[in-house]
Amino acid sequence: MKRFLLMLICMACLLTGCRGIGEKTSDPEEEKQLITVGFSQLGAESDWRKANTESMLQAFTEENGYELIMEDGQQKQVNQITAIRTFIQREVDYIVLAPVTEEGWETVLEEAKDAGIPVIIVDRQVKVKDKDLFTCWVGSDFALEGRKATEWLHAFTRAQGIDPAEINVVDIQGTLGSSAQIGRSAGILDASKKYGWKLLAQVSGEYTQARGREVMNYFLKVYDQINVVYCENDNEALGVIEAVEAAGRKVGSDIRNGEILVMSFDGVNETALQFAREDKISCIGECNPLHGPRVRKIIESLEKGETPEKYEYVDESIFSSLDQVQAVEVDGESYPVTLLK
Ligand code: AHR
Repeated sequence: MKRFLLMLICMACLLTGCRGIGEKTSDPEEEKQLITVGFSQLGAESDWRKANTESMLQAFTEENGYELIMEDGQQKQVNQITAIRTFIQREVDYIVLAPVTEEGWETVLEEAKDAGIPVIIVDRQVKVKDKDLFTCWVGSDFALEGRKATEWLHAFTRAQGIDPAEINVVDIQGTLGSSAQIGRSAGILDASKKYGWKLLAQVSGEYTQARGREVMNYFLKVYDQINVVYCENDNEALGVIEAVEAAGRKVGSDIRNGEILVMSFDGVNETALQFAREDKISCIGECNPLHGPRVRKIIESLEKGETPEKYEYVDESIFSSLDQVQAVEVDGESYPVTLLK
């Protein structure tokens, strides 16, 4: 009797197409596969980076149809290259690379290309001869950020009637060889030559608060005439402020009365934004970290067989609480300053 019942159930299953455990559905909606994305993040050095990682994690969820495999490169290119090779072995559908530096990617990108896996570069750029080694890039125009910030300094000091020859700047650079560092360092170097400021030194603070503080401690010992500190991100600026205050000096825009004017980039860290409201940081060049939805949009367009823009630059502002400079001009284009209250 039992066997007869079992036979009946089996026949009914065959006729109605009912599924056993582990069998695939015939419903095409249910059969949709997750898109696998291997993301090589360069590290976790700053608040900007943490916000960037978070943005990627939120954009590439299972609910959105993705399986995200993220590897933290811990600031080492070799780790990122290993991660990319692992993604290739795992046959992911897409590779997203946030490169620590610009150079040295040719070989591994060729491997990804040979495996037929599209590579999307995000945030910083890669410097490769063959542009077909990656599908596209999305991120900030770091050179423009540097130029806007230095034009702000020029406009502000001019409005104060300060002689350019009295401006003594130190530059706390980002990770050497990264696009963000290259663009921003070029900004202060070029503007110093153009306007006649003294650029006393350029040393890397590696985008961290601890290193920013260390470098500033050193600068304060070596140069007593510093009146402007150009920090290449907010975390460095926080370290710089600690060092300046610990040395008994004051940060602020009143450089004629001995204050040290601090400049920065990002505008992500809440403390840095608050410091900008209080004029402890006089100007922040915005760097937008929210690339997750942008990368997802690119993958969606690739899935539809479309060709995304090769280079997608994100629009960014400048933040300051000082109302002397309302806008800055770069190459004939005017960029408004967002006044913080
Ligand atoms: O590449 C973007 C830069 O990297 C951000 O300005 C900095 O904070 C980060 O670590």
